[in-house]
Amino acid sequence: MSLDCLFSRSRHFAGKRLHLGICGSVACYRLTDVLRALRLMDVHVSVTLTAGARQFVTPLLFEALGAMPVYGEMFAPGEDPFAHLEPGQHAQAMLVAPASADALSRLAQGAASDMLSAQALAFEGPLLLAPAMNPRMWRHPATQANVATLRERGARLILPDCGRAACGDEGQGRLAPVEELFWHALRALSPQDMAGRRVLVTLGPTREPWDGVRYWSNPSSGQMGGALALAAWLRGAEVTAVCGPGCPALPSEIRRTEVLTARDMFAAAAEVWPDMHLGCFTAAVADFSPEPYGPDKFKKEGAQDGFSVRFLTNPDILATLSARRLPGQKTLGFAAETAPDMEALMALARAKRARKDADLLAGNRVNGEGSGFGSPTNSMAVTDRNGHEEIWPQQAKSDVAWELLSWLLRL
Ligand code: CTP
Repeated sequence: MSLDCLFSRSRHFAGKRLHLGICGSVACYRLTDVLRALRLMDVHVSVTLTAGARQFVTPLLFEALGAMPVYGEMFAPGEDPFAHLEPGQHAQAMLVAPASADALSRLAQGAASDMLSAQALAFEGPLLLAPAMNPRMWRHPATQANVATLRERGARLILPDCGRAACGDEGQGRLAPVEELFWHALRALSPQDMAGRRVLVTLGPTREPWDGVRYWSNPSSGQMGGALALAAWLRGAEVTAVCGPGCPALPSEIRRTEVLTARDMFAAAAEVWPDMHLGCFTAAVADFSPEPYGPDKFKKEGAQDGFSVRFLTNPDILATLSARRLPGQKTLGFAAETAPDMEALMALARAKRARKDADLLAGNRVNGEGSGFGSPTNSMAVTDRNGHEEIWPQQAKSDVAWELLSWLLRL
């Protein structure tokens, strides 16, 4: 996992606490990445290693990476006699990963015979389980019954991936990708104030083909849109992301439609828009497409003195879907501008908001330092339909996304 994945720069989770239960599985070393990513965000992480986990990794590894405390055996000398209750008193969420077949069985039974099961039994906050085991053990009706019981009681499952297990068997049973664990952990630490809302996000560039090998596009990375999609999902929304090429990875629970051209993006967004509550139009849509030359490669012979290409206008997705708003639907637009300063940017954002009739519009300077295409941060000029305006200093795109959604919810 890149520690620089979406949301890893957010300051929003500083001071929160996650308790991590780690069971004996080859995959348990992968939790060090999740721990490091959470620690970089100043999330307080405590850990319990089961006896099985201690066969693979040592408490020192997790302590050295910033976990505190790291629990082991229940009645270890010097251990706080109430250590089995402590995470339930202080942590806001608990993640068991990798969750072994044995751990799922103990948790389903409500056992309290080892430190991790006792701590889980005394934990009333959100419980996340990321199973990892041999595919036959995962498929076994006993394991599936335990999973069903735990789900019924409100535990959230981060399902194992398919592929080749460490033992060589093929099937479902590999620990989910660490980014998924990280994002689910953040979700469990987030307010669920967008639960029940359906959110559409367009993101990334579009790519307009010209001949068999060339296209017209722009350097959008899809990070701002990815941050919005992720923030809405973290806060409990159901998210549909219409992604141009090269967009970042997103949680698998986000419905993702991949498109290439502006027309395809328009069609995909227009199809789902009537069912949405909020639309966030972050994509850097190509306003024009070159009139197609055809499927063959354009050859330079005969074009030494240059040549002209005619461009055709594409539909404006934000303006068109804003005009089709149903009662209660709200739209957020962006304005990628080259402006000399933030005041000039605000003037451009104000005009663009009115022109496209968006409820909220956030302008960013693509020529500003620490802002624009590919940058992990943005400074913004934000303006809404009620004439309220704010200039935001440079901050992580994840935090910009969070604040924009909060503003949209207030409108
Ligand atoms: N947008 C869109 N469809 C388009 C063009 C833009 O949905 N065909 C949306 C973008 O996603 C963004 C907003 O409109 O939310 C403004 O995009 P921007 O590129 O800044 O403005 P343009 O409309 O392209 O105008 P101009 O290039 O003249 O500034």
